[in-house]
Amino acid sequence: MNEDDVKNALKAVKYPGYSRDIVSFGLVKEVAAKDGAVSVVIQLTAATPEAAEQIKAESEQILRALPGVKMVYVDVRQQGSPRATAAPGPWNQQQRLPGISKIVAVASGKGGVGKSTVSVNLACALKHLGARVGLLDCDIYGPSIPLMMGTRERPTISPEEKMVPPVSHGVKLMSMGFLLDNDQPVIWRGPMIMKTIQQFVMAVEWGELDFLLVDLPPGTGDAQLSLCQTVPLDGGVIVTTPQEASLGVVRKGIAMFQKVNVPILGIVENMSYFTTPTGDRVEIFGHGGGREEAKRQKVSFLGEVPIFTEIREGGDQGTPVVVSAPERPPGQAFLKVAQAFKDTLG
Ligand SMILES: Nc1ncnc2c1ncn2[C@@H]1O[C@H](COP(=O)(O)OP(=O)(O)OP(=O)(O)O)[C@@H](O)[C@H]1O
Ligand SMILES: [Mg+2]
Repeated sequence: MNEDDVKNALKAVKYPGYSRDIVSFGLVKEVAAKDGAVSVVIQLTAATPEAAEQIKAESEQILRALPGVKMVYVDVRQQGSPRATAAPGPWNQQQRLPGISKIVAVASGKGGVGKSTVSVNLACALKHLGARVGLLDCDIYGPSIPLMMGTRERPTISPEEKMVPPVSHGVKLMSMGFLLDNDQPVIWRGPMIMKTIQQFVMAVEWGELDFLLVDLPPGTGDAQLSLCQTVPLDGGVIVTTPQEASLGVVRKGIAMFQKVNVPILGIVENMSYFTTPTGDRVEIFGHGGGREEAKRQKVSFLGEVPIFTEIREGGDQGTPVVVSAPERPPGQAFLKVAQAFKDTLG
């Protein structure tokens, strides 16, 4: 029985009211284990006596049940209480968003696979299926949501001093692109980006939403990981191309979500194959890799989206295919993904 075993065991303790556990939230600050005695310090960033009590009770119960453990000491400290330290943890940024029922990030192992295209069309498709939808563009350096959704409207400020998100095609939007003049590049350091994204989640009047989709910037490095910790995510979707899937890049995306304990909702295969004007399929990248990789990784496969010129044009013109022609094959492909997405989330 060592410190790692204790930490692993504590992953079974969920923060009350959340699907995520106290370890992934970074609340477990100190762990010591020796000769059958276990001592744990858990630091909450708010004074929430009920949550503290529940976490303490559950942690004790789980630790006592571990083989070889004879003594358990669990100290749950609350922010504001004398012994609390001011160390900021991810939980600081993770506050409850009462009106939003599910927050889901869209990621990929590699850039340029159509993450933003899928985010935009998935958002519009969910809207088409009757859901209340928001779309948050976390790509600070290269925001593409304003272009793809056809709006550069600036958010207004509500009487409560919150940003009112612009709405396009019935989807509430927030993006750095709305706050910048022309296309000046942003040269920000990590903490600034985190702060901005945090504002995009907390200081935006999202209202009641069934889904808030989060378009992550390309990559699966530390920056993306931090972003995932900034937003209280309920799940992640991974977009891949067939050739990327065959190279195992999907696994990086899966690993990133796993590190912060965000459940993988599934994989979408984009640019799956070509359809010629005569209706023939041309599988330039070897279609089907996404589905196979999903099976290997034991996650759901949410569907495939072929290469259609209309999809790119829709993005460039600011009217996603799901909006301009939901009945045509490109729109249908995204609507199918949206249905699978809804089914997976239950
Ligand atoms: N299924 C598709 N059919 C045709 N074109 C597509 C398809 N999916 C994406 N594209 C085009 O591919 C390009 C890259 O897509 P997109 O910007 O969505 O990728 P991304 O993964 O968000 O990129 P980045 O990593 O830079 O954020 C865009 O021009 C887009 O219109
Ligand atoms: Mg993008």
